[in-house]
Amino acid sequence: MSSAQQSFNVAMLGCGVVGSEVARLLLADDGDFAARSGAKLNLTRIAVRDSKASRDQIPSELLTQDGESVVSDPLVDIVIEVMGGIEPARTLILKAISNGKSIITANKALLAQHGAELFSAADKAGVDLYYEASVGGAIPILRPMRESIVGDHVNRVMGIVNGTTNYILTKMDEEGLSFEEVLKEAQYLGFAEADPTADIAGHDAAAKAAILAGLAFHSRITSSDVYCEGISQISARDVAVARDMGCVIKLLAIAELTKDNEISVRVHPTLISRKHPLAAVRLAFNAVFIEAQSAGELMFYGRGAGGEPTASAILGDLIAIARNKIRGGQGHGESDYADLAIAAIDNVKSQYLIRLDVADKPGVLASVAQLFAANSVSIETVRQTGRGDSAELIVATHYAPESALKKTVKSLADSDVVKSVESVLRIEGSK
Ligand code: HSE
Repeated sequence: MSSAQQSFNVAMLGCGVVGSEVARLLLADDGDFAARSGAKLNLTRIAVRDSKASRDQIPSELLTQDGESVVSDPLVDIVIEVMGGIEPARTLILKAISNGKSIITANKALLAQHGAELFSAADKAGVDLYYEASVGGAIPILRPMRESIVGDHVNRVMGIVNGTTNYILTKMDEEGLSFEEVLKEAQYLGFAEADPTADIAGHDAAAKAAILAGLAFHSRITSSDVYCEGISQISARDVAVARDMGCVIKLLAIAELTKDNEISVRVHPTLISRKHPLAAVRLAFNAVFIEAQSAGELMFYGRGAGGEPTASAILGDLIAIARNKIRGGQGHGESDYADLAIAAIDNVKSQYLIRLDVADKPGVLASVAQLFAANSVSIETVRQTGRGDSAELIVATHYAPESALKKTVKSLADSDVVKSVESVLRIEGSK
């Protein structure tokens, strides 16, 4: 093992589940990090909300409640932000950057909202801003997108990037349970947050979708560019119908280029074939599937959350930054030259599955078909199941723009022959 030539002081903002694991691994290191990076990495300061709270294995002299003093400390070279939230994380990171410190952050919400400001500050200061842990936890996905496939043209990225919702949908699929039943169980077992709104409503996945779309299409994308639907309306019946069709419902973060060279970026429950590689991603695992012009299909799979998996990604960034600093400064940043426009959701084309409760009498099917035709939405298949006086009609469409589908659904809901529109789901296939 070669002796380290240099040493860098590392400070942390936050010491929760992820932060305490990063600290534990840094403090337990017996020289491997120095041998791998070329510099000794000293954890010198940790800003926490409550410095009196007991933290096993972390010397109390490292702890402070003064985040400002950490990011202004001239002896600190690299700052790891694992406090989460927008403020004070944004202000502290900007201050650390202006003081010449390189940054590692796992904060997807912050990056998806204020990424442009943070990256431009880092560029101006000539420091690194790395964030591998922000999407897909331990999965190496951002560096491969930024570096390994940067010579290719990405057509589409589809990700299962939220473990909580994937856990719920997997249990619904495999055990036939309702959304509410699985959510309650997931909260009891500690898989889902006490307030699971950001996961269930798709906001966590939307922030990650913005980051993936920006890297894939060399543009700056914010979470407000992402069309977002969550999973709370998915019923046990939707899951059973998908199963009968040889499909599974997944909450997908999708970023793709439209024919007009705009970026469609969206998060919504999606039917995919059980033969698609993403269908095999079970429980709280994450995966990102990329379709690129020359590489073809690529898939990255692993644990998307939790202290140890997320710490793995953060320590990878730390060693990369230390290596860059030894070689004179900043490493590779991502490119944002393309500055592509965002496609309006109304113009985005999908295939849809529409489940209707209708009266079971002559002429109903013809009337329903007529409403699809009137809005230029072409039907691919129709399946009917009788239920006494009424019937369930399950209609799968060909590709149609969202605007035409919305008009169709409205006319179906207003029609006398339709008792109710039970659900509308998108179907994704290979393109
Ligand atoms: N709450 C997220 C999930 C992990 O369930 O995957 C952090 O992004």
